[in-house]
This record gives sequence, structure tokens and C-alpha cells, in this order.
Amino acid sequence: MSEPGVASGRAGGDDSPARSSSSPDRVVSALADADDRVVEGALRPKRLSEVIGQNRVREQLSLVLEGALRRGRAPDHVLLSGPPGLGKTTLAMIISAELGAPLRITSGPAIERAGDLAAILSTLSEGEVVFIDEIHRLARPAEEMLYLAMEDFRVDVVIGKGPGATAIPLDIAPFTLVGATTRAGLLPAALRDRFGFTAHLDFYEPEELGIIVRRSAGLLGVALPEDGADEIAGRSRGTPRIANRLLRRVRDFAEVRGDGVVTRDCARAALELYEVDESGLDRLDLAVLGALVRRFGGGPVGLSTLAVAVGEEAETVEVVAEPFLVRAGLMARTPRGRVATPAAWQHLGLPVPRQAAWAGRAGRVVEWAGQEDSGGDGEATLFG
Ligand SMILES: Nc1ncnc2c1ncn2[C@@H]1O[C@H](COP(=O)(O)OP(=O)(O)O)[C@@H](O)[C@H]1O
Ligand SMILES: [Mg+2]
Repeated sequence: MSEPGVASGRAGGDDSPARSSSSPDRVVSALADADDRVVEGALRPKRLSEVIGQNRVREQLSLVLEGALRRGRAPDHVLLSGPPGLGKTTLAMIISAELGAPLRITSGPAIERAGDLAAILSTLSEGEVVFIDEIHRLARPAEEMLYLAMEDFRVDVVIGKGPGATAIPLDIAPFTLVGATTRAGLLPAALRDRFGFTAHLDFYEPEELGIIVRRSAGLLGVALPEDGADEIAGRSRGTPRIANRLLRRVRDFAEVRGDGVVTRDCARAALELYEVDESGLDRLDLAVLGALVRRFGGGPVGLSTLAVAVGEEAETVEVVAEPFLVRAGLMARTPRGRVATPAAWQHLGLPVPRQAAWAGRAGRVVEWAGQEDSGGDGEATLFG
């Protein structure tokens, strides 16, 4: 799993959309590699008050936790959704720390049978926090067991097989489930509805990332002047995990080629070497954008066709590349497929084709520049 050059995401359970063999050299991949996991432990904020950005989520969550603490009861179950690297695992750990409750960590893919889940739930002590990462990958029988556990703090343990099998109800201690998912849309409504509090994490602003890298530099003992921090923050794809990784790569560069101080020039030179462009787009992002524009004339094109064109799994394109491309205003999702925006051509240094060539085909835009998928109301066209 930690072998360099081998996709570690799939087995790790932590942010694990399928990855192709080309992924590991992506210095800006939002997915955690083995190296990240070691360092991330040290860089994770431990309390809610240390969390940078996500102001609304932080405030809402602090009310949920504070309320529960005052009542002396386990808070509602919490669902955290959003692209990889934005702080879902961090928040799960913080929830347990703020409640002063123990934390059990598992993931959807790790729970293969309902029995695996029963083993966890039946041994909980009161108030414990159970974190299920990638909860959209939970197998069906485990998911059904979870419904009952979340609602009634009960599991049905099935004894025997076939027609003679009986279900024995077993009470479990009140607990708080924290679920994390990169694909909230895949969760069955029945499961989604059982979470009393849902937080969607969004990409961070460069100023927030600047604060995050400066904090990390402090913890890692890296000399990082403000302009160096800004340079890294601006190329981090709105993602703290990437900001922290770029910091480590730039530090290497500064130590080997310079005097160890991460100045703006040093950060620029290092990031150029690692092929991170000025907006933080990496090879996969550029491949997706390039295919969309050059091969499909700007779309609309279906996700799977686009994924095949760049030699990646559809899930990787959808979870890793698309959210940021949409947020950056380079790509939009329409009912008929993915389309490039005029900014995509500009970004690739190509002349923008005349509107008529493609806007007519694009149809209605349902998601545009970071706007949530509205399911179609709020009609907009590409040129407004
Ligand atoms: N709000 C934040 N403030 C500071 N650092 C953060 C924040 N969110 C995430 N990080 C950093 O980014 C890394 C990745 O976060 P993580 O919680 O593992 O993301 P996710 O589980 O959503 O993929 C963490 O190790 C942490 O250092
Ligand atoms: Mg995680």
C-alpha cells in the first residue's frame, strides 16, 4: 500500500477513488499518499478553534457540539461531504476531541459484511464517535444495519442461516456517527436523512491557504516569508492537503538549491519544476481540459467518454479533477455533458471559438463556477 509509485488510495480507504498508475507523480493530487499520511498527523488542527476557513461549517458544528455537551448527550450524527483534502478526516477527529469522546475509525470499503459493522457497534462505550470514511462505499447489508443503529441504537444480529435464521435485537450504546464522503450524491436518501447535521466542505480561498501553509511551516520549522506562502497558496487548487504537500516539495528545493528560505522566486522555480501551473492545475486537470477543448470541441461530452480520452477512471475525473475545474470556471456540467467555458480556451492559450460553434449545443448549465448542482432551476447560459 505504501509502495512508491503504486496507487495507495484504493486500499487505504482514505479518499480512495480509483486511481490509475499515472496518479502518484501528481504532486498536486488531492488524494493522500503514504508520505502525506505521516506528515498530516502532525499538521492537522486538533481543535475547532485551530481550524482555518470553512467558517460557516465551523460555526454550525460548534453549536451542534456545544448543545450536545450542555445536554450531556451524544450529538446528532454528522455527515461531511466534499472533495478530497479539504478537512473531512480532520473534522471527524476534532469532533471526538471536542466531545472528549473516544474515536473509532473505519471506512466503507473496510466493512465488507454486516458482521464487521456489528462487531464495531456492539462494543461501543456510551458517547463514542464512530467515523466511517468513504461511507458511500458501504455494502448494502451493512448500510441497512446502520439505519437501525443510527435511529434506535439497536442492531439485529442474525443467528443461523436460511429459513431457520432468527434476528436477535441487541441494544448498543448511544454513539455519534460521523460519515465522510467525496460523493454525497451517491448516498441513498434513507441514509442521508438519518444524519441530523450535514456539512459540505468547499474549496479554500488563497488567503486561507496562505494562513494554513504558514502554520504548517511553523510546525515543520520551514522558513517561509509571506510572499513564498502566497505563491504556494495560489497554486494549491483550493486544497489544504495540496498546500501542505507543495510546501514540502518547495522546502526540499530551497534546502538543496538555496539557503533553505522559501522565497517567492524559490517557490516559483520549484513549482515549475513539479509542473504545477499558476492556477494550481496539474497534469490530470490539464489533460481533462485539453481533451474537452481539443478532442471534443468544448463538448458537451459525457463523463465516461472524457475519462477514456484521458486514460483515467470516470470516478477519478469526477471526484479529483472536475470539482476544481468547475470551481475555477473552466468547465461546466450540463444535463447533456461536460462543456468547456471560454476561460478554458484562454487557459490553454487557444483562441476562443465563436459562441455559435458550441454554446448552442451546451444546453442549460446546471453547475457553474462553484455553484451547487441546483437540479436545473436558476437557468443560465454560458454567456449569461
Ligand atoms: N481547515 C484546515 N486548517 C488547517 N489545515 C487543514 C484544514 N483542513 C485540512 N487541513 C490539512 O489538510 C490535510 C488533509 O485534510 P483531511 O482532513 O485529511 O482531508 P479529507 O479527509 O477531506 O481528505 C490535513 O492533514 C490538514 O493538515
Ligand atoms: Mg480523509
